[in-house]
Amino acid sequence: MKKLIIEGKKELTGTIKIGGAKNSVVALLPAAILSNGKSVIYNVPNISDVDKLNEMLKSLGADIKYENDVIEIDTKNLKNQAISKEHSSSIRASYYFMGALLSKYHRAVISYPGGCTIGSRPIDFHINGFKKMGATVKIRDNTYTITAKKLHGADIYLDFASVGATINIMLAAVLADGKTHIWNAAREPEIVNVASFLNSMGAKIKGAGTNSITIEGVKELNNGIVEVIPDRIEAGTYLMIGILLGKDLIIDGVIKEHLESVITKLKETGAEFTIKGSKIYVSKAKHLTAVNLKTLVYPGFPTDLGQPMSTLLTQCEGESLFEETIYENRMRHVKHLNDMGAKIHLFDNSAIITGKTELYGEEVIATDLRAGAAMLVAGMIAEGTTTISNIEHILRGYENVVDKLTKVGAKIELVDD
Ligand code: EPZ
Repeated sequence: MKKLIIEGKKELTGTIKIGGAKNSVVALLPAAILSNGKSVIYNVPNISDVDKLNEMLKSLGADIKYENDVIEIDTKNLKNQAISKEHSSSIRASYYFMGALLSKYHRAVISYPGGCTIGSRPIDFHINGFKKMGATVKIRDNTYTITAKKLHGADIYLDFASVGATINIMLAAVLADGKTHIWNAAREPEIVNVASFLNSMGAKIKGAGTNSITIEGVKELNNGIVEVIPDRIEAGTYLMIGILLGKDLIIDGVIKEHLESVITKLKETGAEFTIKGSKIYVSKAKHLTAVNLKTLVYPGFPTDLGQPMSTLLTQCEGESLFEETIYENRMRHVKHLNDMGAKIHLFDNSAIITGKTELYGEEVIATDLRAGAAMLVAGMIAEGTTTISNIEHILRGYENVVDKLTKVGAKIELVDD
């Protein structure tokens, strides 16, 4: 196991370059098997989830060429086979192979996906969508065997605007007979990224990014090309660190539209920063004021930034009410923040955060990816030394985090536990 050791309160100046979005690339890689030819994916982030998905693609016989931030995938030798339990359980996004394999071969065998333990995280919306399109689903000791004589278009209403279900149903629908309509579809930018990749292969998807998506099935898909959009969650995390420690810090490579709710909420605390094109210029705020925060589906404030934001709220004068509405178990970072000197009172899925409190370096644990991000922010601003263990979680979603922060003046190192 590895851990991060951080010496807090260093002033940060210079430029942090934002990488490709984890929650895009983890869907783009499985989607690539739908092409009968080659696909090229640009701006791939250097995160461990990419390596795991490449392993799964190779286990299916895909030829992978991965150089710098470009991945070329050739499916000429692809053959359908079960995705192993070990692979399936390693990340949540393994479930995209369900939609992709079902779509291409009308058969997918894969175990229940892994992912951060931030809630029960069922996949019933995905399975119900596949069934509506004509698939049969058998579950035996957590392994799903999903088959269909053929897949036909269907009208699918999502009870909740699920990101994963929206993408998985799109993957299953692009080669189905007829038209599929997804109502109450998720609107996250990552969905638009996946739809544009599939359309580059010849798919006929309309409405991605809205809550109503139609997919006209086609006979086959060919060479695909796509650039991974910038990671809005990585950008938001570094923006928060800049608000707490920056001196003319530049967050480079963002798409402002993807961060509107985050920008609005951070400005409400009194943070000052300017955005020119794809760059955010930010310096340490003189004074921050408590705000109320509720995480919502896009374009609301993203649940993935709720945890790092709760660290920033410990530095805001007054009482902030933070409500997590997407997951039922996404507050496990709070205990560690309180150990560092925060004053956070938890009730149900909400937290009352009283600031401003000095944070002190402690030995803490990253219980999940974004809890790890919350610890990272806390360690950066704490008095003294903070040690974060289980940081494999952080390395899943924040590429080259030590290099990026060291380059702008942080005192942070990665050591073996
Ligand atoms: C994606 O997860 C992201 N993961 C999550 O990011 C992100 O928090 C989430 O979308 C919401 O934006 C990836 O893209 C790999 P959902 P996903 O389906 O698709 C319930 C991170 O930190 N639900 O929108 O799993 C579910 O339990 C990760 O980068 C069902 O009930 O999210 C949750 O409460 C964490 N049945 C809610 O919906 C289903 O079939 C949102 O889930 C599917 C979901």
